[in-house]
Amino acid sequence: QGQLKTRFFGRNSRLVYVPVVDSTNILSMQLARQGAAEGTVVLTDSQTAGKGRLGRQWLDVQYCHVLSSTILRPTFSPYLLVMIASLAVVNAISSVSEVVASIKWPNDILIGNRKVAGILIETSHDQNGRMLAIVGIGVNVNGLSDQLASNKMTGIATDLQRPGAIATTLQTECGYVVSRETFIAHLLHHLETLYLGLQQEANEPVAMVNQSTSRLIREQWRSQLSTLGRHIEVRQGNTIVSGVAEDVDETGGLLLRNHSGLRVSITWGDIGYPTE
Ligand code: BTN
Repeated sequence: QGQLKTRFFGRNSRLVYVPVVDSTNILSMQLARQGAAEGTVVLTDSQTAGKGRLGRQWLDVQYCHVLSSTILRPTFSPYLLVMIASLAVVNAISSVSEVVASIKWPNDILIGNRKVAGILIETSHDQNGRMLAIVGIGVNVNGLSDQLASNKMTGIATDLQRPGAIATTLQTECGYVVSRETFIAHLLHHLETLYLGLQQEANEPVAMVNQSTSRLIREQWRSQLSTLGRHIEVRQGNTIVSGVAEDVDETGGLLLRNHSGLRVSITWGDIGYPTE
C-alpha cells in the first residue's frame, strides 16, 4: 500500500492479498460477481492452478514473481484492454530498469526474444449486462536464468513445450533484484493511467469524442510490437498459418501476407519465429 502511486487501483479495500490461491483470475471473477469495486487488485505469492492463454497452465515459483489480477468494468472495446495491459507491463519494466521490453503479438512481453511476462484477459457480464473484465498479469520478476534452464522456474513451463520459446526474468536481464512491491506499484500506476484515459474518452458525449486517447494507445502498442516485418508462424490449434506479419488492423488483429501473396487477418493464436 505504502508504495502505491494510483488513485483507485489497489487502494485500501481494493487490495486483496492471498498467500496461495488457485488462480488470481478465478478469485477476481468471483469477487467481481459479488460486486467488488472496479480497480480491485488480487495478488498472490503462489497459484495452484494458474491459467495461461489458450487453455494452458501457468506455473510459478513462490515469492519470485508478480501474479496479479485487476477487476475492471470497461465501457470501451475489450481489444483495447489487451493493448493497455501489455503497455502497462512494458512501461513498468522501463520504470524500474534500463531494460527495454517489447510485445510479441498479441500480448506476450519479451526482453530480446525471451518471454518475461504473460497476460490473460477474461471478460464476462454482470447481472445488469455491464462488461466485467479480469486483467491477469504474470511477470517473472526475480530468480535467475540458471533456475530457468533447470526448469525450476516455470512461470513459462507451458511455453517451454514450444520450440523457440525461451523465458527470462527481470533480474536476469537487469542484473539486480527488483522489489515486487515497487514493480506492482509501477504496473498499477501505468495500467490505471491508460485505463482512466480510455474510460474518459468512452464516456464523453458523442459530439466531443475525437478518439485521440484510443488512437494514441493503438499507436503506442503497435510501435512496441516486435512481431511486425518478420516471417512468422501462427499456431491455431492444430493448424499453422505462416507468412510475413505486415501490420495490425484497427482492433489489433494481425495482418499476415501468406506465401500465395494473400493478406490474411489473424485474431488469435501463438506466434513463432521459424527462422530463429
Ligand atoms: C500467458 O502468457 O499464457 C498468460 C499468462 C497469464 C498468467 C497470469 S498470472 C496472474 C493471473 N492469474 C492467472 O491464473 N493467470 C494470470
